[in-house]
Amino acid sequence: MKEELQRIREEALNKIGGADKLDRLNEIRVAYLGKKGELTGILRGMKDVAPEERPKVGQLVNDARKEIEAALEETQRKLARAAREQQMKSEKIDVTLPAKRGVLGHSHPNTVALKEVERIFTGMGYEVVDGPEVEYDEYNFERLNIPKGHPARDEQDTFYINDRILLRSQTSGVQVRVMEKQKPPIRMIAPGRVFRADEVDATHSPSFHQVEGLVVDKGITMADLKGTLDTFAKQMFGPDTKTKLRPHHFPFTEPSAEVDVSCFKCGGKGCRFCKGEGWIEILGCGMVHPHVLEMCGIDPSVYSGFAFGVGLERIALLKYEIDDMRLLYENDVRFLKQF
Ligand code: DAH
Repeated sequence: MKEELQRIREEALNKIGGADKLDRLNEIRVAYLGKKGELTGILRGMKDVAPEERPKVGQLVNDARKEIEAALEETQRKLARAAREQQMKSEKIDVTLPAKRGVLGHSHPNTVALKEVERIFTGMGYEVVDGPEVEYDEYNFERLNIPKGHPARDEQDTFYINDRILLRSQTSGVQVRVMEKQKPPIRMIAPGRVFRADEVDATHSPSFHQVEGLVVDKGITMADLKGTLDTFAKQMFGPDTKTKLRPHHFPFTEPSAEVDVSCFKCGGKGCRFCKGEGWIEILGCGMVHPHVLEMCGIDPSVYSGFAFGVGLERIALLKYEIDDMRLLYENDVRFLKQF
């Protein structure tokens, strides 16, 4: 019995000495001191020991238990300390390192350009209004004088939700929404996202932005249109900018025109930027078609108006001299923060 005890004691102490993890110590504790442990086994065998020997053996078992417990405790403390030191080392904070700077974002060139457009037009008394990106065919086409089967629809092929609802191909529908709700005088711009079934390239994207403009009042003429857009161009591209109207066709305006600005890079002499033309096209416009006014509940014999539509990306690309529209959508911070 004594030898057995001696063996258990030595074996346990040995194992404790060799333990390198707290988990392992626990296993040893269970193996020797646990309910089914070896030392407990000896106590159970006491019934076979001669009664007079029992106190002595009991004492020996107790001594062995204490010794093993003490060894366990000490090793446990040692291992815990080592683990903590390891943790301290790995989580060391160098308070002398410079702090990380918070990275502040930057307004997108589209946003910068839009803010500028809004500043210019609100300065002339315009209201900024919003319209839905998912629009009825009726507003996007029908009441803009573009009935089903009209060839103008081909140029603005878009994404259809069903045969009455689509992703708007132009912000011009907001004109209709404003006119049917509001009595003249109307002076508004409507910026927003539009959609077309176009392939992505340097100048096209299936989703881009426009800013629509509409003025309706008594006695509005083409001269108001020309003066307004000239003021806009000078504020947007510089005071020396000249504008010219080229006759064009849009179904919802009559007469219609496209506006060119003199190249602000070469002043109109012709350069790479304006492809040698001296002029750059920036928007479409015209006098609101009387039939459109009528369809929107406004009497064309009393009121007249003008409208225009600008491509926001086009303005941003021109103003910041960016030569590929795709750069605007990639959101590479190194690109964006230049503007
Ligand atoms: N909506 C036209 C387009 O996307 C642009 C436009 C032209 C808008 C003339 C107008 C306008 O308001 O009067 O091509």
